[in-house]
Amino acid sequence: MEKQKKISRYKRLLQQIEDLLKKCDDETARMATISAVLHHKMEYFFWCGFYRIVDGELVVGPYQGPVACLVLAKNKGVCWAGVNEKKTIVVPDVHKFPGHIACDSRSKSEIVVPYKGSDSKVNGVFDVDSSELSSFDETDAEYLEKIIALL
Ligand code: SME
Repeated sequence: MEKQKKISRYKRLLQQIEDLLKKCDDETARMATISAVLHHKMEYFFWCGFYRIVDGELVVGPYQGPVACLVLAKNKGVCWAGVNEKKTIVVPDVHKFPGHIACDSRSKSEIVVPYKGSDSKVNGVFDVDSSELSSFDETDAEYLEKIIALL
C-alpha cells in the first residue's frame, strides 16, 4: 500500500479503535475488536491476532483469518523473538527468518508487536501475516504500536 494512503488509513483506524474500546474494559473483547477491525480494513492483513503468554507458553488468543497454530514452540520463530527482544519485529520474507513457524504456507511477510501489562512485563504479542513479500515497514510498526498500546 502506498505510504500516504497507509498513514491516513491507520489514522482513521486508530481513532475508530479508540472509540470502540471506550465501551469495554475486558481484555478478550478488546483483543477481538482490534483484530476484527484491522483484518477487515487492512486488505494485506491475511491473518492477524494475539498470542498470549500462558504458563510460559505462547497460546493463541482472539484472531481473524485462517486457522493458526494454537501453541508456538518455545523460543522459536518471530513471535518469540518479539517477546524475548521486547520490541517490534518486521520480517520482509518469512522464509529468511531462522526458525520461522509457518502456521499457513501462504504467509510471506510478518510483523510482531509485543504488548505489556501494567507491570510493564511483556504479556504477549500482536502478530500480522501478509500473503505478499515486504508488506510491513516502519509505518506499520509505528501505528500498530499505537493501536496495541490501547489494549
Ligand atoms: N509465524 C509465527 C507463528 C504464528 S503465525 O504466523 C499465525 C512465528 O514464527 O512465530
